[in-house]
Amino acid sequence: MTRIQHDRVDHARLVGGESAGYLHHQVEDAARGIGPVHLAHQANGVRVHILTLGWEQARALLNNHAGLTKDAVGIASVMREHMIEAGVEPNVTAVIGGSMINADPPEHTRLRRPVAAVLTPRRVQELRRNVVGITRALLDEVDPGQPVDVVAGLALPLPLMVICELLGVPAQDRGMLAGWSSAMMTEVPEQQQPASEAMAGYLAALIEDKRVRPDEGLLSMLVHTGGEDRLAPEEVLTTAVLMVLAGHETTTAAIGNTLAALLHTGQWSAVAAAPDSVPDVVRESLRWDPPTRNIPHYLVREPVDLGGGVTLSPSALVMVNLGSANRDPEAFGPDAHRFVPFRPRPARSHLTFGMGWHRCVGSVLATMETEIAVGEVLARWPRARPAIAVERMPRNPYLVTNGFTEVGVVLVG
Ligand code: HEM
Repeated sequence: MTRIQHDRVDHARLVGGESAGYLHHQVEDAARGIGPVHLAHQANGVRVHILTLGWEQARALLNNHAGLTKDAVGIASVMREHMIEAGVEPNVTAVIGGSMINADPPEHTRLRRPVAAVLTPRRVQELRRNVVGITRALLDEVDPGQPVDVVAGLALPLPLMVICELLGVPAQDRGMLAGWSSAMMTEVPEQQQPASEAMAGYLAALIEDKRVRPDEGLLSMLVHTGGEDRLAPEEVLTTAVLMVLAGHETTTAAIGNTLAALLHTGQWSAVAAAPDSVPDVVRESLRWDPPTRNIPHYLVREPVDLGGGVTLSPSALVMVNLGSANRDPEAFGPDAHRFVPFRPRPARSHLTFGMGWHRCVGSVLATMETEIAVGEVLARWPRARPAIAVERMPRNPYLVTNGFTEVGVVLVG
């Protein structure tokens, strides 16, 4: 490996940390220009190489995974080594677990198949009416006479309710799951570990309940599936944890980021006046300000040549930065760093849902939820202004997802 630390790159910012507005865009775009690999330290002492590649190279790497593995045992063991070296209690099991996101084929194929079966475009369409109903009920609670936080009022509860209904989590327990989930995203051991244990304990008990009292939800289905798609009890649990986290944190960020982008660029009313453009606007927002900051860890198995004399060494943990790839001017043109809601549909697709085997299994649902949320807010309040400057709106400090924690807005009918 050649240079991995550069004086002009804010390495800490590539793995999250306190931030606001669009500061991370400057850091990620500059890092892409300076070099493809940047070593950063997570809050739990884990050392991670952030890859700030152009779109073409990021896509190729995620598509063929050559030299890389998602093996849960290998990743967890390297993480533990780093944590011990940093003097941190090396407990990574509940977070990293052996779910599909930390497995290679053929295990990955087996773990993904039953979940993919309930998230096909046809099955997701069947959920549309329900998603619209939940969205409208949440918006009925909004008081537009005063500044409103659309993250707390819509972007957080909507995906949480949808994923919990899909899984079969009782309504009264959903707030608890949201609290644990956000603590688990932090990588701060004192927050992450108790939350991760609490969530695993809660879901293990719920899974046991589904074993005795089956219902229509995905958890029950996973418990009772037999034959070659059968999951071991611990695999049902890690899949459940993954679905809660992946199923709402990212979608919350997608909805908040899109509404903030419309405020930031003064394009709210123009898009409200052209409701058919909402799917294209959401696609542009997902490209420009991806709700996934970095693709979850890969472990380098064999040397990976990134060109220009840069090689990733075995045992390195790597994450692909998505803002860097999605705002690459070579792929999306000289104004790639701008949010252009009416941008002609680009020939290349953003990498926000990943690529290859692990490409997001919930992308159709996530896109539908984001389009419905954004479309319904704009239809009800076609005029709006930010309650505080978008540059000052706080971001979450997470390693994997990236969204506003609050989007304060004054809504006008
Ligand atoms: C805008 C919202 C979303 C974004 C941006 C997003 C992004 C991603 C990305 C980048 C990956 C690839 C991870 C990797 O390569 O390691 C992924 C995987 C995954 N996502 Fe999503 N996701 C979103 C919503 C959802 C939803 C709503 C669900 C569930 C209903 C979901 C479930 C999953 C699962 C289970 C995986 C693992 C797939 C695998 O390893 O085969 N995601 N997501």
